[in-house]
Amino acid sequence: MCGIIGYVGGKPAVEVALEGLRRLEYRGYDSAGIAVVDPDGSLRTRRRAGKLANLEKVLAETDGWAGTTGMGHTRWATHGGPTDANAHPHVDCTGTVAVIHNGIIENFAALRAELERAGHQLASETDTEVVAHLIEDALSAAEPTVTIADALRVVCGRLEGAFTLVVTHSGSPDTVVAARRNSPLVVGLGDGETFLASDVSAFIAHTRAALEIGQNQIVEATRAGVTLTDFAGTPVEGRPFHVDWDVSAAEKGGFPYFMLKEISEQPTALADTLRGRLSDDGGIVLDEERLSEQDFRDVDKVFIVACGTAYHAGLIAKYAVEHWTRLPCEVEMASEFRYRDPVLDRSTLVIAISQSGETLDTLMAIKHAREQKARVLAICNTNGSTIPRESDAVLYTRCGPEVGVAATKTFLGQVAACLLVGLFLAQVRGVLYGDEVGANVAMLQQMPGLVEQTLATIEPVRALARELADAKAVLFLGRHVGYPVALEGALKLKELAYMHAEGFPAGELKHGPIALIEPGLPVVVIVPSPRGRSVLHGKIVSNIQEVRARGARTIVIAEEGDTDVEPYASHIIRVPRTPTLLAPLVTTLPLQVLACEIALARGLDVDQPRNLAKSVTVE
Ligand code: AGP
Repeated sequence: MCGIIGYVGGKPAVEVALEGLRRLEYRGYDSAGIAVVDPDGSLRTRRRAGKLANLEKVLAETDGWAGTTGMGHTRWATHGGPTDANAHPHVDCTGTVAVIHNGIIENFAALRAELERAGHQLASETDTEVVAHLIEDALSAAEPTVTIADALRVVCGRLEGAFTLVVTHSGSPDTVVAARRNSPLVVGLGDGETFLASDVSAFIAHTRAALEIGQNQIVEATRAGVTLTDFAGTPVEGRPFHVDWDVSAAEKGGFPYFMLKEISEQPTALADTLRGRLSDDGGIVLDEERLSEQDFRDVDKVFIVACGTAYHAGLIAKYAVEHWTRLPCEVEMASEFRYRDPVLDRSTLVIAISQSGETLDTLMAIKHAREQKARVLAICNTNGSTIPRESDAVLYTRCGPEVGVAATKTFLGQVAACLLVGLFLAQVRGVLYGDEVGANVAMLQQMPGLVEQTLATIEPVRALARELADAKAVLFLGRHVGYPVALEGALKLKELAYMHAEGFPAGELKHGPIALIEPGLPVVVIVPSPRGRSVLHGKIVSNIQEVRARGARTIVIAEEGDTDVEPYASHIIRVPRTPTLLAPLVTTLPLQVLACEIALARGLDVDQPRNLAKSVTVE
């Protein structure tokens, strides 16, 4: 998720771009850059890694940014770390075409190889840079009358994946063009000026007249307004609307809190974690691998280390890793890991899960693991952070920045990434055939749609939450992969509503915790699919009966069609049918919403809960 702004009008483009990027920094902030087309027809760019302030400093030291056509980008790195060379804009060999991009171009590697074979010099590690060189080729191969918009249309037909692209060209000083597919782009229509942006927060200080752009469309923006076509060049219409949000609401996409926005972003975040991970022959493709396939084949034991929500993702991963690879897999709280003298050696793979990539407990755990010669694979959401740098390989979840302290979309990304690692391990070890890996990835790729379907029917959970706002405690029960989900649901309630909550394996209830059950106590039960291990389903239905018989208020999360739970459920929350190991990707969602809504009903700030920090960089 990156921040994008394009501008053509009467104001200095560099000022409009920087102001827009300040509004968009919440979308990504590991590097930034701008491009301006000067009246004399020259294209000027500046880029800097780090916060936007680094770019502003460089621009303040250079003058002559008089051009009134340009664009800006603030990056959340996916392909290639946050460096000056990887910052956007990217230019072609001639330095006359500049491109900024939000999204993931899945076939960039093949396109890059084709461009380099044709003699193009590419200078970055990004997927974006190929677009600048493809546009260069489209322009040079065409008639002089071909416009930059024509060239972009041609190039979009070759791109696979999700993208918002904004392009400036020194030969088109009065035009900025853009394209979008499965990535945000909105137009701002001012008086003699036009804006293109990731969201309205970038331009509502200038105009509240906006235009919604559809899928697979090209925008040609001038001072007079925009011309829209589809990728085939057929004219289309945008949907005009008036923006009545203030800037703060705009940054939150109209939601009152970032957490609510991030819960709603989960279908996209999950799709982005999975995007481009399947090679042409159906295998799994990881990110920066500094481990060979042989290294992975040599693994004879897996440890997963993490904290908090990331630890719960690791607990879910354990079931998948052991089921698919037949390797023993232990999951450890990072803060305990190194103090128990774990048995590690060169054949141990340690998987470190961390959204921030800066959690000191987890960082110290992997340092210890590497001292013991173990190999370390990081699963992280923050490109360029410390934990990936200290690891032997990394898989980025690409969920975009998560501003809310309580992890939501990054948890789904972590679970999906863990499942991909489990499949990758099974693939390189030959325990699963390519078609079996492909079948599992295909099921994974159905999940963003099922997450969206679950969120679309989540309103009853909000109503239930308001009824539970005064509860003194809530218990969460689950079996198999539902047990880590129970733990995650309890953690969400603790950290957001400051309510006592505990998660248990449902089978553990009779060994003590059942003494906690009293009339009216809310007990949330995550029910495994009756189509999975049916014995587990029967046992958990008995557990629901046991607590219901003692007066508990049973809140049951069960898949569509599961009628066995109905006689014992005070409330049933339905989720779509999924394969057993993928169920947490939907059963977690009601628990996120339940905790969030109870906290809101209690008048609490769900973005910044008391005593907590987004990244815990102390031990
Ligand atoms: C979860 O909602 C919390 N934000 C916290 O438990 C978090 O998951 C934990 O601190 C680990 O953070 P990390 O993923 O950045 O390492």
